[in-house]
Amino acid sequence: MNRRHFILTGLASFLGAATLTRPALSTPGQTEVFKSPTCGCCSAWVDHMARAGFDTVARDVDQETLWSMKARAGITPELSSCHTAFIDGYFVEGHVPSGDVQRLLAERPDALGLTVPGMPIGSPGMEMGNQRDAYDTLLVLRDGSTEVFESHA
Ligand code: CU
Ligand code: CU
Repeated sequence: MNRRHFILTGLASFLGAATLTRPALSTPGQTEVFKSPTCGCCSAWVDHMARAGFDTVARDVDQETLWSMKARAGITPELSSCHTAFIDGYFVEGHVPSGDVQRLLAERPDALGLTVPGMPIGSPGMEMGNQRDAYDTLLVLRDGSTEVFESHA
């Protein structure tokens, strides 16, 4: 290879490396939310995410499809809620506050995703006046174990 070619190749790989080492952009990808067509609280959560600036798209699927999607993603029945969202390689199950999702995407832990099991009253999309259950957002690790990601009083 001639000298000129060598310099150009070197420059290209330098630029390539610079691109790779650039810190991750803060703009997340699209949030895809799978839900049953009749779920009102699911739509309320979709609105909550959209208001927080997430590019959110809702997809209606039947309940059986939803359960098999959850199973494939590693969401056991005990960890499950109503809707299942996917964003940047993570699942977000149930009424997880948008702030927790933002923290997940900023910290990028080696994990499968976040869940708020069940449907606690007072979580985003489950508002009922001043009523409020205390609940935890759980981080689901690759081996299926969980740890508390954030406690909500
Ligand atoms: Cu719900
Ligand atoms: Cu839901």
